[in-house]
Amino acid sequence: MSQAKATILVTGGAGYIGSHAVLALKQAGYDVIVLDNLVYGHRELVEDVLKVELIVGDISDRSTLDQLFSTREIAAVMHFAAYIAVGESVTEPAKYYRNNVNGTLTLLEAMVAAKVKQLVFSSTCAIYGMPKQVPMTEEHPQDPMSPYAASKWMVERMLADFDQAYDLKSVAFRYFNASGANPEGLLGEDHNPETHLIPLVLLTALGKRESISIFGSDYPTPDGTCIRDYIHVGDLADAHVLGLEYLLKGGTREVFNLGNGNGFSVKQVIETARAVTGREIKAVERERRAGDPPILIGSSDKARQTLGWYPQYPDLSDILSHAWQWHQKRHG
Ligand SMILES: NC(=O)c1ccc[n+]([C@@H]2O[C@H](COP(=O)([O-])OP(=O)(O)OC[C@H]3O[C@@H](n4cnc5c(N)ncnc54)[C@H](O)[C@@H]3O)[C@@H](O)[C@H]2O)c1
Repeated sequence: MSQAKATILVTGGAGYIGSHAVLALKQAGYDVIVLDNLVYGHRELVEDVLKVELIVGDISDRSTLDQLFSTREIAAVMHFAAYIAVGESVTEPAKYYRNNVNGTLTLLEAMVAAKVKQLVFSSTCAIYGMPKQVPMTEEHPQDPMSPYAASKWMVERMLADFDQAYDLKSVAFRYFNASGANPEGLLGEDHNPETHLIPLVLLTALGKRESISIFGSDYPTPDGTCIRDYIHVGDLADAHVLGLEYLLKGGTREVFNLGNGNGFSVKQVIETARAVTGREIKAVERERRAGDPPILIGSSDKARQTLGWYPQYPDLSDILSHAWQWHQKRHG
């Protein structure tokens, strides 16, 4: 199949979700070039584990992009590169708009100039804001509540306009909480600073942190703690390959939620982590954080129907055991 030999440019491929997508692309027979400035990415995962070409560069550097697109036969782009810390985006919005919005605009302009017309984009369920109903579908009203979420919302808007004006076709995936790790233990989550619940719980299990904080235990949920939709990173990676192939076959611009469809509370995550790791894991109940909705669960029916995507690892215990395997290897 000629498609199987296409070369895909993966921005942010040295990061958590991007590296899993690179592996899925390789396993599906694609050639991959990673473009990552390594501000947060991990060189050794790309060079030693994934063994694909790494270009250390920035999506905001138009000359690097022009050079890449003019010298390589790139069929499509998967765009993961962004800053991702919601809290930091509130105190440093300029950093987020510059990287996530301006950087993406530079990438899109370079793609249009080079006539590379297909893009898979990492968006987020955070563009919906406070849930008006759950599970949330793609039609849910959009009300981004942080500069980070707004930066993703703005890119989705640009993608709609670039489709209209320049025929650039895109699939934007709105992820719920990316979690877990490659089941074989090759790749996993290693953010610094880490802000996500599952790695923080596992770092506590490893003794790298004193305790895990539970922010709010008086929410209107069965155990009083917030409920989130955790989607396995391997399932996200598979969806990206399906989204890419949808575009390569001539698909029109689309947005899809990617979630598990199941919600798990903070206490359930901690309890399951205790069971999986066999460690005690000290938890401390604290005040609610501003802006945390009690329940966030996504409907992924559209991705199932249009792309034929089904999560393989919807169980919280699978998500945690894969993440635990990785964390022990990486930090143990
Ligand atoms: N982790 C989640 O739960 C989650 C949820 C929703 C959406 N997303 C989105 O998924 C994408 C990947 O997230 P992640 O968790 O893998 O983050 P990550 O920080 O692990 O990966 C991002 C990668 O992009 C690189 N990068 C950042 N800015 C760059 C630039 N200007 N040029 C080149 N490279 C750059 C970083 O070095 C890093 O390797 C992001 O766009 C994020 O907004 C993540």
